[in-house]
Amino acid sequence: MASAVDRYAPPRLGSRELFPELETRVYANHASLSPPSQPVVNAVSACLSQYARDGMGSYANETERRERLRGRLAHLIGAPTRDLALVGNTTAGVLAVALGIPWRRGDRILVFDGEFPTNITPWQQAARREGLELVWMRADDFRTDHAGWLQQMEDHLRAGIRLVAVSAVQFTTGQRMPLETMGAMCRQHGAELFVDAIQAMGVVPLDVEACAIDYLTCGSHKWLMGPEGTGCFYARAEAAARLEPNVAGWLSHADPFAFLTRAPNELRYDRPLVQSARMVEFGTPHTLAAAGLEASVGLIDAIGVESIFEHVQAWHDALEPGLLDRGFSSARMVENEGRSGILSVCTTDAAAGPAWSRALAEYGIESASPDGWLRLSPHWPNGLDEADILLAAIDEIRAGGGP
Ligand SMILES: Cc1ncc(COP(=O)(O)O)c(C=O)c1O
Repeated sequence: MASAVDRYAPPRLGSRELFPELETRVYANHASLSPPSQPVVNAVSACLSQYARDGMGSYANETERRERLRGRLAHLIGAPTRDLALVGNTTAGVLAVALGIPWRRGDRILVFDGEFPTNITPWQQAARREGLELVWMRADDFRTDHAGWLQQMEDHLRAGIRLVAVSAVQFTTGQRMPLETMGAMCRQHGAELFVDAIQAMGVVPLDVEACAIDYLTCGSHKWLMGPEGTGCFYARAEAAARLEPNVAGWLSHADPFAFLTRAPNELRYDRPLVQSARMVEFGTPHTLAAAGLEASVGLIDAIGVESIFEHVQAWHDALEPGLLDRGFSSARMVENEGRSGILSVCTTDAAAGPAWSRALAEYGIESASPDGWLRLSPHWPNGLDEADILLAAIDEIRAGGGP
């Protein structure tokens, strides 16, 4: 079957050619949601049409597609395909682990103040159910004091932590967390590392081996540029072997279709549950979203995450000095390892982010304002000339007395 990449002009950094329907003048909000490219739109629509024609006859194709997609996603994070499952959203992966670890009363989970609630709520629920303790650190303190922050984390690990749950990239500031160091520290102190990768996967190089990540979860509609309603969950084989299948369903069994396709007497309820990340694929999947995601990840693969990261940094480099000249402060880290797809700035008025975001929208510039920051998040189709458009809009807004 031809891939999405074969059927279209190859994706080019800085070109919106594959986004003919996108109306926004500057779309710098991929950290919230990516507008689907034409290959994604067509893949979803072709999949739906196939179902309209063939009904159940489409199922085998889509099963094959899901396996290809698992492979592509696994490749993006340096994982074996067998350790990767498709899930409905980022939260599904957090829940699978929060409800699946055979906790002991009093176990401690290290979580970070400032994280998106996806990576907090399920741990809170697990803590309530299982008598666990949440230990809190401030994620943002890492920006100002790397060594002190890591020391604090090590002190907590030394005191006994069962699992560390962190986002690869903080959704507010774009701060990329030091996963390699964190993973090594976790290993040394016998803790597991859980990563919410939705603000990283597709724009920031990630390697679950190099970072000793035990579990990773990621939704598809941000930097992976797919539709909402799907995503992936990785569990290192040894970690998955310890998980209890508390969120298992009929598709979590080995050979789950046997009773539908073979001779009678295959309808049994005692088939073993798959003891891998796949156990979380418990029911009928979102096939259309998977079709779209395969197309978007095909485009990302065709360019390469390293090149996308460099392009996005060039976009930030073109814009950031002009923002600083205009009195904004930037949360962007100095070192490349701390940078991501997000450029967040603020003014002396901590509440100004939403007003700036709204004012820019009037100029056809799409941004976001999480927790008061003005967040700009371009991806591979964003042109480097967009910095001039943004700065001109800011000057006009200021000249008009705004935001
Ligand atoms: C860091 C982070 N995690 C998770 C999510 C979303 O989680 P879910 O895919 O479960 O809706 C977001 C944003 O929507 C996010 O910024």
